[in-house]
Amino acid sequence: MKKKLFYLSVALMGLAMAVSCCGKQEEVKDDAANADAAIDAIMQRKSVRAYTGDTIPCEMIDKLLRAAVAAPSGMDVRPWHIVVMTDKSQYEECFAGNFNMDKFMQAGAVFIFCADTTVTRPPRENPDAPAVTTPNPIWRDDMGACTENFLVAVEALKLGAVWTACYPFHDRMDPVAKYLQLPGNIVPYSIVPVGYPAGENQPKDKWDESRIHYNKW
Ligand SMILES: Cc1cc2nc3c(=O)[nH]c(=O)nc-3n(C[C@H](O)[C@H](O)[C@H](O)COP(=O)(O)O)c2cc1C
Repeated sequence: MKKKLFYLSVALMGLAMAVSCCGKQEEVKDDAANADAAIDAIMQRKSVRAYTGDTIPCEMIDKLLRAAVAAPSGMDVRPWHIVVMTDKSQYEECFAGNFNMDKFMQAGAVFIFCADTTVTRPPRENPDAPAVTTPNPIWRDDMGACTENFLVAVEALKLGAVWTACYPFHDRMDPVAKYLQLPGNIVPYSIVPVGYPAGENQPKDKWDESRIHYNKW
């Protein structure tokens, strides 16, 4: 009887181990598939400049915004504010004179990535002192990361978009700032029309071995 119980418990342990190993293998497979999907979205991203004009569901917009603000930022200050524009009747005034207007008009939504160029926090040397507001010298870097995160998410959702420059071109920034009544410390950095792609678009192959340097130039 004792022997039987012993063999039964050994068999059960073996089964449990097999199941847990199987689970781990599945996890490894899932991790690999997730990595492939993430890298694929990066490699397949391309500028898309023509859209069907269909509106984009709110759930997709929500996913895009969440991906954008997951970006890294210097000292984690997260300088971004994103204005979502869907009412085309506002575009003539908001984007007055912008040569990308045709894309904005075709898009399902237009996203204006704005930056708070200041940072408010206690002085570094005295964390207990009251917060002070100072210029943030690296807001542009943070905004680039935020915009690129957004574009990769656009690709992952099989939508199309193009990064259009706003900052530092005053002829593009000023109408946006005026129309949205942006506070003085808020700069419109990039404008991204998003829509369902009209036609075929292919990513460019940008790999150039001569741009890669190991350990020395
Ligand atoms: C900072 C920046 C500003 C850009 N401004 C514009 C623009 O105003 N209009 C436009 O059609 N594309 C614009 N682009 C898109 C580039 O032309 C495009 O990324 C480049 O040609 C590479 O093509 P790809 O995005 O398909 O890889 C801009 C891209 C960046 C990063």
